[in-house]
Amino acid sequence: MNIQSLRGMPDLFPEDLKNWHILEDELSKLFTSFNCDEIRTPILESTDLFSRSVGGSSDIINKELYSFLDRNNESVSLRPEGSSGVVRAIIQKKQESERQKLWYQGQMFRYERPQKGRYRQFHQVGVEYLGYEQGMSEYELISMIVNINQSLGIEKYSIKINHLGSPEDKQDFCDALKSFLIPHEEGLHEKDRMRLSTNPLRVLDSKEESTKEILRNAPKYEDYISSEAKSFLGDLVDHYQDRCNIQIDSTLVRGLDYYTGIVFEVISEDLGAQDAYMGGGRYDNLSVQLGGKPMVAIGFAIGLERILELMTVKAAPHTIKVALIITLEHQDEKTYKIAHQLREANSEIILDAFLSNARLKSQLKRANKLNCDFAVIIGDEESNMNQVIWKDLSEHGDQKLLGIEDLLAVYKTL
Ligand code: HAM
Repeated sequence: MNIQSLRGMPDLFPEDLKNWHILEDELSKLFTSFNCDEIRTPILESTDLFSRSVGGSSDIINKELYSFLDRNNESVSLRPEGSSGVVRAIIQKKQESERQKLWYQGQMFRYERPQKGRYRQFHQVGVEYLGYEQGMSEYELISMIVNINQSLGIEKYSIKINHLGSPEDKQDFCDALKSFLIPHEEGLHEKDRMRLSTNPLRVLDSKEESTKEILRNAPKYEDYISSEAKSFLGDLVDHYQDRCNIQIDSTLVRGLDYYTGIVFEVISEDLGAQDAYMGGGRYDNLSVQLGGKPMVAIGFAIGLERILELMTVKAAPHTIKVALIITLEHQDEKTYKIAHQLREANSEIILDAFLSNARLKSQLKRANKLNCDFAVIIGDEESNMNQVIWKDLSEHGDQKLLGIEDLLAVYKTL
């Protein structure tokens, strides 16, 4: 039997990647305009890192981590998200006291049940503002989210936002929720009963009607955070009212344990069940939790597979494509020299060297199929005279014999 790719880990072919490149270029331009620098951290990390950051009670650690023992019997895991590795790297470099604006991109891995918009290998682009306390950095990140959507032509989206308060507030609310839910345990959906014992806050995320009914009378998060936190959240939301659809959602708690303070998700109805395509928040305690010095931080990540569904694709500017056709046999070295000269003369042009001595007719057919604009043809007779054919491949295009110097001059000014 043929070997197949693993479930939930799709291949990306050249035709798929066209839109990816547009997206990646747009994002990296935008991050540069916010003066963010790129960081790259390993895909594989010690399992401890994720259990201490994402949290031992989260679904990600309990059920979704790709973990295995390496040859030295150490437990290592494929990263399920990017923030943990970034913070680990900064601690390791002893840079916790520096303010940094970083972005990253790459594959993440979660052993989830694959469905539309949910994969086991997926791609994120993330941003982390390290060393920036609650205040303007929240404004800046929401602004970045609005700009990203705008530059990708996404109009129909909404931002759900909440404030989780301090770690103590979070714990108090969690305890209150748990005490409220325990007497109603029987009525909860089975999945939520499990969550009640492992991660009670996640019960708030439930999509099950029976659970939602019980939650109607549950304690409210807003009653457990300080008035300062409440007014910060209110002001932030008011500020953005006329720029985007942003709403407070006091049931939004997010699935990673490291958050405190502001958390948010960007969703679109057009995505179906997996409707969140960006998510993030503040995580002021993660550095200390991982053994580093105190370092406040906030960030978010974009799910690329999901945002690609929403992006109204802008056609990439047309780049001229030239086919280099050689029909002359046994002259590889001499004829290939022309490829070097052409690439030196104008590196903006795509020069597709066909690398074959097939018949001219079939090579021209190939050039048309590949949408080449011009062809340089090196054939027997011409090359003896040190000339090549320059052929315009458009419908009524003509062709002419050119010496090498003239060819390079034409090529330079294309
Ligand atoms: P997250 O909400 O777990 O946050 O993931 C961010 C985004 O990744 C989601 O909104 C979604 O678009 C995408 N995503 C997650 N799981 C999958 C999947 N199985 N298949 C396809 N896409 C998926 C984080 O990962 C945090 N590290 C974000 C962050 C950065 N918070 C602070 N800084």
